[in-house]
Amino acid sequence: SRQWRGVIREYASRLDVTDATPIVTLGEGGTPLLPAPALGRRTGADVWVKFEGMNPTGSFKDRGMTMAVTKAVERGAEVVICASTGNTSASAAAYAAHAGITAAVLVPEGKVAMGKLSQAVAHGARIIQLQGTFDDCLDIARELADVHPVHLVNSVNNDRIEGQKTAAFEVVEVLGDAPDFHFVPVGNAGNYTAYTRGYREDIQAGNATRMPRMFGFQAAGSAPIVRGEPVRDPETIASAIRIGNPASWELALSARDETDGYFGAIADERILEAQRILSAEVGIFVEPASAISVAGLLERAEAGQVPAGARVVLTVTGHGLKDPQWAVRRADGTEEQPVVVPVDTAQVASLLGLGA
Ligand code: F0G
Repeated sequence: SRQWRGVIREYASRLDVTDATPIVTLGEGGTPLLPAPALGRRTGADVWVKFEGMNPTGSFKDRGMTMAVTKAVERGAEVVICASTGNTSASAAAYAAHAGITAAVLVPEGKVAMGKLSQAVAHGARIIQLQGTFDDCLDIARELADVHPVHLVNSVNNDRIEGQKTAAFEVVEVLGDAPDFHFVPVGNAGNYTAYTRGYREDIQAGNATRMPRMFGFQAAGSAPIVRGEPVRDPETIASAIRIGNPASWELALSARDETDGYFGAIADERILEAQRILSAEVGIFVEPASAISVAGLLERAEAGQVPAGARVVLTVTGHGLKDPQWAVRRADGTEEQPVVVPVDTAQVASLLGLGA
């Protein structure tokens, strides 16, 4: 057995790198693709979950960030900059720290989950909270990168998409071909675009025989692609995808057309319900934005749009520990508090229904 070497070394021949490229890696990729029979029972489909929370900083962003920071260093960059709802900033901060360069991150004030913010702090990023939305943050990051020597590592940078396409390669390696359907959460639609590219390249390389139908989901309060117009004040508890003007909008629409795909919107309550189902019935804990893949499958299956036996892959993009507050929140808004008892075996036994 050997150690997984990160997506650049594992897929070097399929990425724009040479022997001289100074690879910046934390061992990202190689994530589990897990069968989810409980979701199969609910939908009639053959369901697999690509658990991207298993990446080094806990989200799929690491696949793109290894490539983006590697290429930035190759080009001599000393500062990378990004706008973020949290995960991109955590990833940029970690890879910049590993490379010995600076990460500057712009985030919407008060809208980033604590787990993600703590990562950016821990890895030493320069963090600026903007009194605006993610979309405002991205506008400013792009403006600064245009005129200053700072290297933009949002997914508008093609290196990010290149790194992220490797997730499709991994799916095909495990399943032996592309699935019938692939469900992903959508914020900027970079990942939706990246999977489509990965599958397309796998077909060209002879590794896959078909393109999956790419199904992308936005939160109902932040669903510009579904509505067909930007959303000025996007709202959702799925803070990772609280985005009103997706950067990869046009690319995503052409990817949808190419794959006979679909974009749908899901209400926050259905997102949280799907998060609970995935945790309690499959054993995979994800942040709310990631659970939208599961919610999307349940909704499409209810609508009769997923044929029995169809092979379905759900990408769950970020770990549940990133934003744990939703898992302990009860329907009435109060916090779940496990029962407290004195140090007394009989009482514990009784509470567990173990008899006398
Ligand atoms: N899921 C999670 C957990 C995310 O953090 C993001 C995006 C997405 C899905 C959507 O991916 O943008 O490629 O469509 N997070 C970005 C960030 C915006 O700043 O971390 P996308």
